[in-house]
Amino acid sequence: MLRKVSSLTALLSFILLLLTSVILYIVPAGRVAYWADWKLWGLSKTQWTGLHVNLGILFLVAILFHTWFNWGSILAYLKNKAREIRIFTPAFNISLILVIAFTIGTYAQIPPFSTLIDISETIKENAGRYYGEPPYGHAELSSLKSFTQKTGIDMEKAMERLRAAKITFSGENQTLLDIAKNSGLSPKELFLIMQPESERPKGVLPKEPPAGMGKKPLADLCREFSLDSEKVIGLLAREKINATAEMSIREIAEGSGKDAFEVYDIIRNGLMKKDPVSAPAIK
Ligand code: HEM
Repeated sequence: MLRKVSSLTALLSFILLLLTSVILYIVPAGRVAYWADWKLWGLSKTQWTGLHVNLGILFLVAILFHTWFNWGSILAYLKNKAREIRIFTPAFNISLILVIAFTIGTYAQIPPFSTLIDISETIKENAGRYYGEPPYGHAELSSLKSFTQKTGIDMEKAMERLRAAKITFSGENQTLLDIAKNSGLSPKELFLIMQPESERPKGVLPKEPPAGMGKKPLADLCREFSLDSEKVIGLLAREKINATAEMSIREIAEGSGKDAFEVYDIIRNGLMKKDPVSAPAIK
């Protein structure tokens, strides 16, 4: 009986494990999923991950029993024609080569193994563009007070707007996530109520770098904050930093021996200065 139960449990949990695996393969990064309150078929990223992990554990336990009950067959696979145990049978060798190829190929980031990982990352990155990035990592965990301070929003005005939208909150110390949960909105929607898109400051960068900034192509950063990319490339060139609009901030940083935050600060400070790059030439 236990033999049948373990095999069938392994099969059923494997089917559900496959489904949750596909979803985790395409699920947006945590910062995006929690900010935009991402859900698929009514389940959040946390719930899908929970299902995946627990079904995975059930699958592993069932597979252990399955192996135990079928140990005789496994030993038979490792015997030669004279019925002597031989580990390196042709079947074993093929399995070993497959496992080694997948392990080393993934570790050394060789296609097609790296391609599988890249596809997942691209889908996750595009989800960030589609659903919207938080203004900074885990912004939803900030209190109203710290969120408005970090994003440069007038807190009193933001609170007035929330009240006008019939959103109840206990005060400046309540977190965005808490308010969002109570009102049935996402933290992102609260942000849009506090500061509509049309009121976003243009041509400047916030003090707190936006989440996922390192991976963003310069062109995307410029589009998001209404910056002139030629001007940004010009002010980086003044600091002897080579950049093109297609390069990500991290790539620009690596090329100049800096880190992404330094490059971000150089752009931000450059934009705040009176700008000789775009000033009319003196005749
Ligand atoms: C059918 C075989 C499996 C496949 C194809 C699979 C696939 C995946 C994928 C695509 C992810 C998401 C990776 C990412 O964040 O980009 C993931 C995460 C994970 N998987 Fe699996 N998985 C499998 C079996 C298992 C098993 C048996 C366990 C054992 C418990 C397990 C435990 C986990 C854990 C702990 C995570 C990390 C969850 C997190 O983000 O906190 N998986 N898996």
